[in-house]
Amino acid sequence: MNNVTFEAPRGMRDFYPEDMVWRNRVFDAWRAAAERFGFQNYDACVVESLELLQRKSGEEVSEQIYAFEDKSGRKLALRPEMTPTLARMVAARQSRLPFPIKWYAVAQCFRYERMTRGRKREHYQLNMDIIGSEDVLCEAEILGAAVSAMRAMGLPDAAWRIHVSSRALLGELLAKSGIPEAQHPAVFIALDKRGKISDEEIADLLRAEGLDEAAVAKTFELLAVTTLEEAAALAGEDSPAIANLRALFETARAMGYGDLLLFDIAVIRGLSYYTGIVFEAFDVQRKFRAIFGGGRYDSLLALVGGQPTPAVGMGFGDVVVGEVLREALGDTCPVERHGYAIGYMTPEQRPAAIALAARLRAEGHNVDLALLPQKPKHFFGKAGNAIARTAVFIGPDDVASGVAQAKDLVTREATPIALR
Ligand code: HAM
Repeated sequence: MNNVTFEAPRGMRDFYPEDMVWRNRVFDAWRAAAERFGFQNYDACVVESLELLQRKSGEEVSEQIYAFEDKSGRKLALRPEMTPTLARMVAARQSRLPFPIKWYAVAQCFRYERMTRGRKREHYQLNMDIIGSEDVLCEAEILGAAVSAMRAMGLPDAAWRIHVSSRALLGELLAKSGIPEAQHPAVFIALDKRGKISDEEIADLLRAEGLDEAAVAKTFELLAVTTLEEAAALAGEDSPAIANLRALFETARAMGYGDLLLFDIAVIRGLSYYTGIVFEAFDVQRKFRAIFGGGRYDSLLALVGGQPTPAVGMGFGDVVVGEVLREALGDTCPVERHGYAIGYMTPEQRPAAIALAARLRAEGHNVDLALLPQKPKHFFGKAGNAIARTAVFIGPDDVASGVAQAKDLVTREATPIALR
């Protein structure tokens, strides 16, 4: 074949070993945090029926679906997100599942997006969802797990914030402004475009939905609200949405991450299925796109054909957090050195090296055994750049005496290690 490019297709990524070090840092933290908060792991096929994905149409993501027909003419697609698949899986076993359930998955998702910073055409997402409970403790647990993951990755609390709002609150406020409920979904979608298109274009979208000038002005006024107290004054002290938000802030404080939460009425979320509290995490400088996002979606199960069931969840992508981490930690991923590197001077010491590697591996250590004889300078040069904590170089004298030196590459201390 001529002119085959070495590049991955546009928007797709290859992961070389140095990239995997970063990716594993993120995935390990995700899994550890989800498990620590009692979520059970699930998985699903990457290919989904197009119909399921389009059933929640009228939103940005449905225009970005990688769709195709299989050889039998079935209309299929690569999943752009995990939530419809989760809803399908739960609906399929609805009478048998022990609700509330807490499930997590690390899922690769595909979206044909315009390529901008932090947006690829393929990414991995940690999804954590709690299905079967209306309690705001669910939101608090999911956010607590996300905080735990961010801390495990090494990101300082000072570097980021979780912006929280509520579609139910905005719905109440829009209704008080005289905007009928039927128009709310379209208003949410229009408002979510804020920052991406001009306010004048958003106003045009709102007018196209049938809002008059007074209602358009009122909508923008609502977005100028900056504190939960201001919102409470507008919504009324008996507002259920305000009570819910206050409960979330209180629980977050009790869980040790209250300082990370921020009320931000401008958080709307682009997906149409959200019904209650919604949230998005950003770096404090707002240099990057959302790190993660999610919220409550109490109607989706019914929408895919299941019984109405309350649900809340989040998607946490690997791309933006990777950029935020590099910014905070530097370009080289900090790794904890572990295991052994074993080298030898000439072929005569190879049997001793193989025997030592076998013994250490049997004891449970990771061992990188040199494939060729080397000069000590080369061996230590390479061992120093790799991730081994301890280097053992075996020369003729070591074989003769039956003892080599195990050099700790961090402390530089050497201790004898038996070869027989
Ligand atoms: P989302 O906001 O569309 O929500 O995506 C969640 C996260 O996935 C984003 O905050 C971002 O980190 C990452 N992400 C999304 N698209 C891309 C992309 N093109 N390139 C890189 N990263 C991306 C959802 O997907 C919801 N299904 C989340 C959810 C789960 N809600 C309830 N349960």
